[in-house]
Amino acid sequence: MSEIAADSKSPLFDTRGMAYREFPSDFSKIRYYTLILVSSAPPRIKEFNLLEQQISEIIKNGIAHGNKNDPRKFLKIWYDFTREYAHLIVEDEGEGFREIKAWNEFNRRRLDCIDRGDVEGIMNFISFRTQKSSEKDGGNALFAALEYWNGGLVFNDKLNAVAVKKVFDPVPEVPPGFKPWDLNQPV
Ligand SMILES: Nc1ncnc2c1ncn2[C@@H]1O[C@H](COP(=O)(O)OP(=O)(O)OP(=O)(O)O)[C@@H](O)[C@H]1O
Ligand SMILES: [Mg+2]
Repeated sequence: MSEIAADSKSPLFDTRGMAYREFPSDFSKIRYYTLILVSSAPPRIKEFNLLEQQISEIIKNGIAHGNKNDPRKFLKIWYDFTREYAHLIVEDEGEGFREIKAWNEFNRRRLDCIDRGDVEGIMNFISFRTQKSSEKDGGNALFAALEYWNGGLVFNDKLNAVAVKKVFDPVPEVPPGFKPWDLNQPV
């Protein structure tokens, strides 16, 4: 996936069966909110730390870019974590990701440089910035997010909610009686 789409009709916006919470826009509590969400995941979920980090970036964007850190504005979050996938929808009360077209163009040119091995060119595409970006914004979290959320990363039509899905690689079943030191056993 190399583009961020805007499509409220995406199946990723189907909230049926998902857990739901609301959080006020307190930037200092982002890791705490994230942990509340991921603690609902089954034990030993894959790459827990990476998952937590990616969720926190989405929450950070909702609080900072969407709700402008206004504590009276809330995030609405739907979430569902299983051993097979992680699915999350984060909606804020902001104006939406107005620069989505510019971001896609920026990312397209960035990926072109990477494909060509054009290291100097990549230097021009390290950080996506808008007039509203603050000094604290790295301008790069969504590049990795698009790669990480391999089941999709899509905004709604209003551009103030993002739905993401990560599909985990299946964990191979260990056959009964499996002995790792027995070379004749299938792995
Ligand atoms: N919920 C949102 N509402 C409005 N704009 C958003 C939202 N989420 C993302 N954006 C836009 O996407 C851009 C890129 O986001 P990204 O997370 O990659 O970078 P950043 O937030 O500026 O910096 P950082 O790398 O520190 O997260 C932001 O500059 C912002 O314009
Ligand atoms: Mg961000």
